[in-house]
Amino acid sequence: MSLVNATGETSPIKGTARVMSESYNTDASDWSNVSISTTQRDLVSCVTRYHELSPSRFEDTDTPFVIAEFGCATGAASVLPLKVIIQAVRKLSPQMPIQVFLNDLPENHHSLAIAAVTEGLTPLFEDVFIMVAGKDFTEQVFPAGTVDLAYSNMTLMILP
Ligand SMILES: C[S@@+](CC[C@H](N)C(=O)[O-])C[C@H]1O[C@@H](n2cnc3c(N)ncnc32)[C@H](O)[C@@H]1O
Repeated sequence: MSLVNATGETSPIKGTARVMSESYNTDASDWSNVSISTTQRDLVSCVTRYHELSPSRFEDTDTPFVIAEFGCATGAASVLPLKVIIQAVRKLSPQMPIQVFLNDLPENHHSLAIAAVTEGLTPLFEDVFIMVAGKDFTEQVFPAGTVDLAYSNMTLMILP
């Protein structure tokens, strides 16, 4: 995979050059959250449509509902979409355990992501399990058929 600059030159994407800084949560979460807030209806629609297509999935509370975010950075921008998705799932299936995978590059500041998302979700929900998937998403990150809903915010332009 490569990046193309304004003059058309290409360069390979290299490790830490892409990782958000430790201050990303305070630097960027305000405008990032503005972007996310425009998509809340779409996130709820995805859950509703999934329920229409697979109602039995929402009855199977032995298997946690798995949400994956690609390109979570330091996590502050992950809280709002996760909250919206979890609320939509729980509206349909109040007992459903939720497993959240925060994906970003291995060199990302994952501890900040876990802390921000835990702080944002724990007061609101029980039975939510937050995990990190530290892997370059230009390769397959999750085993086939193990994720119920995946999304990314301001990362789609990089996603293969
Ligand atoms: C523009 S930031 C968006 C961060 C956050 N989602 C937001 O809305 O503010 C893109 C994120 O994608 C991550 N990223 C870039 N390339 C990646 C790759 N190949 N695999 C996994 N994560 C990647 C970066 O580390 C960064 O955290």
